[in-house]
Amino acid sequence: MSAQVIDGKAVAAAVRSEVADGVTQFRAKYGRAPGLVGIQVGDDPASELYQAGKARAADEVGMVSRRITLPDTTSQADLDALIDELNADTSVDGMLVQLPVPAQLSEPLIANRIHPDKDVDGFSPVNLGRLMRGEPGNIPCTPQGVMRLLRDGGVPLEGAHAVVIGRSLIVGKPQSMLLLQTNCTVTVAHSRTRNLAELCRQADILVAAVGQAEMVRADWVRPGAAVIDVGINRTPDGLRGDVAYDEVAEIAGWITPVPGGVGPTTIAYLLSNTLAAAYRRSEIHA
Ligand code: GUN
Repeated sequence: MSAQVIDGKAVAAAVRSEVADGVTQFRAKYGRAPGLVGIQVGDDPASELYQAGKARAADEVGMVSRRITLPDTTSQADLDALIDELNADTSVDGMLVQLPVPAQLSEPLIANRIHPDKDVDGFSPVNLGRLMRGEPGNIPCTPQGVMRLLRDGGVPLEGAHAVVIGRSLIVGKPQSMLLLQTNCTVTVAHSRTRNLAELCRQADILVAAVGQAEMVRADWVRPGAAVIDVGINRTPDGLRGDVAYDEVAEIAGWITPVPGGVGPTTIAYLLSNTLAAAYRRSEIHA
């Protein structure tokens, strides 16, 4: 058996096109474009690439994007002052601080400082609380992308056993909530999980978000299962996911490639969150 490859680039293009239509309607109604600001502290090359990609994608759907790059010695007080300024700026609908940040800065302080309505990453306590409660709010982008890949791939969710490997705030935890909301039975596995391979073999849906190149092998996968690879690992042989793609593709029912799987959908949902945030703010202040 050979897996159906879920094409993340095509799925992301569909999401971006929906957002572009939404931006056109938003401009017609409110006479301005939704605004997204990306903040980067320091000059980490990977962060630089991500930030450039996010800004370009925002421009392409007709939003106004702004990139702010601060020196890697920036203090928490200075970053807080910038966040406060953007919180008060009515032309800004969404902002994000690219992670990781240098050691003198605190990710929890940042997540608590950004106004929840402008927190398009969905990492703030308020937005994560809303997600857990099932209330509307900004939902983290990568897990939203994974749900769309499953949906567009035609993977049955109702009553399925989903195993998420990884318990991060960015992916594992919000992913488990979204899968639960769609009536999956969810197991969250992590580095201390016993008999991980055996557990993964029980999954109808396996989401790998651990950050270890090619950790998920063919004998971890139940024949016919959907395998979603969130990993982006830079190895001497090039970019690799958390899944040993070639051998798992022989066993799985569905699989996402790296690159070209989850990655493109993450940026697409950042745009979707920004548009939704712009509508929410405009409707409140109309
Ligand atoms: N670093 C890695 N992934 C992300 C993300 O989704 N958002 C931000 N802000 N930083 C990241």
